[in-house]
Amino acid sequence: MIFTVTTSPSLDLLMETAGPVQTGKTLRAVHEELRPGGKGINISIMLKHLGITSTALGFVAGFSGDELMRLTMAEGIQTGFIRVRRGRTRINLRLKEQGAGPLEATRVNGLGPSVSPDDINYLVRKVSALSAGDYLVLAGTVPPSLPQDIYSTFFKALQDKGAQVIVDAPPELLHAVLNYRPFLVKPNLEELKSFLNQDLSTTEEISAAAHRLQQEGAQNVLVSMGSFGALFLDSAGHTHVIRAPGGIAIDKIGAGDSMVAGFIAEYIKTGDLKQAALLAVAAGSATALARGIASAQAVDEMRSQMEN
Ligand SMILES: Nc1ncnc2c1ncn2[C@@H]1O[C@H](COP(=O)(O)OP(=O)(O)OP(=O)(O)O)[C@@H](O)[C@H]1O
Ligand SMILES: [Mg+2]
Repeated sequence: MIFTVTTSPSLDLLMETAGPVQTGKTLRAVHEELRPGGKGINISIMLKHLGITSTALGFVAGFSGDELMRLTMAEGIQTGFIRVRRGRTRINLRLKEQGAGPLEATRVNGLGPSVSPDDINYLVRKVSALSAGDYLVLAGTVPPSLPQDIYSTFFKALQDKGAQVIVDAPPELLHAVLNYRPFLVKPNLEELKSFLNQDLSTTEEISAAAHRLQQEGAQNVLVSMGSFGALFLDSAGHTHVIRAPGGIAIDKIGAGDSMVAGFIAEYIKTGDLKQAALLAVAAGSATALARGIASAQAVDEMRSQMEN
């Protein structure tokens, strides 16, 4: 079974208005959508599109937490969320004029619930029950209300259990867990630069940087590079440069998450690391070119435009 962790999931309210979004004006929505949000949840959604059921873990609270769980389950994802008593699951508002691009949206991210040490221990106990054949996906930042070493705590809880861990997290969190030998890490190019505190422009430099992460403990390193695709360093030390299929990006949100899901889905099906990296790029590009998380059909179409 695959478990995704979203430490601070959200209920995302997207609203489009007829006119420009201006301070001090009352606006009327002409289109609205409510979606479950958070990197781990996005990964679970793409996994489901690719035919794989996963369990989403994290903390939820209040009515927004109920709605988040309902929407997540409606996507066909199992939920193992821990309900906490104080506060509510954050509501993130994205507001934009109809027809404007996603980058023009005004975003307001809500506050999350307050999570107690007992709640954290409960999640850690759930994680410690994973065993060989299971995958744990740690994605995204850890909110300031939680201990910043919670990812390390999960790794410690899993030591000698045989489960594989995948990490897509900002440099400071990634740094703390590499020595636990994560199965896969997926920094984007900016994150990789900031991790090593150096500029990276040529393929050789990026490949050398991926090797550094491998020397520090990562088994497989997938560096995503937006519209350029990705550089994949596999556990045998081979570098693969994978070009993204062309197209016009519509909404990049969830592209990195789709990539992680694509990798896991293909690896589980075939056990082939290179094929997994190719499907990862196909899934990332399909989502960048779609509204929301792309369908399996869109991923297949992208994949058919790529090498074998
Ligand atoms: N403009 C684009 N055109 C085609 N494919 C894209 C584009 N942007 C992203 N992708 C695809 O999505 C993958 C991940 O994109 P990116 O490197 O931007 O990840 P990220 O910054 O981690 O994303 P996220 O913001 O979701 O965390 C890329 O490797 C590529 O396959
Ligand atoms: Mg990312």
